[in-house]
Amino acid sequence: MLSGLVAAPAPQSMAAEHQITDGTVTWGIKASWRNYIGSTGTLLDGGVTRNSDGTFDWPVASGSFDDISNSLRIDLAGSVHFRSHQAPDGSYILDSLFKDLYLTISPTEQTIRGTYSGNPREGGDRVETEDAVLATIDITSADFDVSGGATTWGSARTFGGPDNGLYKEGTPFDPVSIDYTGPGGIPELGDKFEDQGAPS
Ligand code: HEM
Repeated sequence: MLSGLVAAPAPQSMAAEHQITDGTVTWGIKASWRNYIGSTGTLLDGGVTRNSDGTFDWPVASGSFDDISNSLRIDLAGSVHFRSHQAPDGSYILDSLFKDLYLTISPTEQTIRGTYSGNPREGGDRVETEDAVLATIDITSADFDVSGGATTWGSARTFGGPDNGLYKEGTPFDPVSIDYTGPGGIPELGDKFEDQGAPS
């Protein structure tokens, strides 16, 4: 029987939370939004760069991967600031800032969160929302790969989250790609988690 050849599972003590310090997340938020503002009205800060297709590369500031639950958290450095429709006094009626972004891929959450601040499209006072769910990530659409000590979630579809500040929830946003140095894994989604009543 082959079973005698199967390697024993790693002892529990081998499983751990791994710190992540190096990587890049590519996410352009939404192409039509970027095109609406234009690159001259788009200010990049804190290490964010623009790719030739107009999307942004965000540097990974820190993160962690838990290889028991296959839960990933990635915190991004930098910000992107969009300005348009300048008023006679020099201020911008459209003045939207995305910063402190972080991604979560876990059994219970697949999101891009962050701080969004801006003037509402419909007018009224400026809003700032911390820890806003800017987008949800469909991880089943990603090209997942772990090789050479690096993990990639390639081109996962994203959709506007409940707090994105600009578009109706569920609006298709740009795909997100995540590349980092360190281990990774695909979390189990769906009812298995709920059925087992595992603690959150
Ligand atoms: C002087 C003020 C503004 C003017 C004249 C203006 C004008 C326009 C026009 C003409 C469009 C394209 C047509 C349409 O979708 O209806 C548009 C789209 C849009 N505007 Fe504004 N706008 C203004 C302020 C704002 C503000 C403050 C926001 C919120 C941050 C905003 C967010 C958007 C968004 C999200 C779109 C859709 C872009 C897309 O994905 O195609 N606008 N705006």
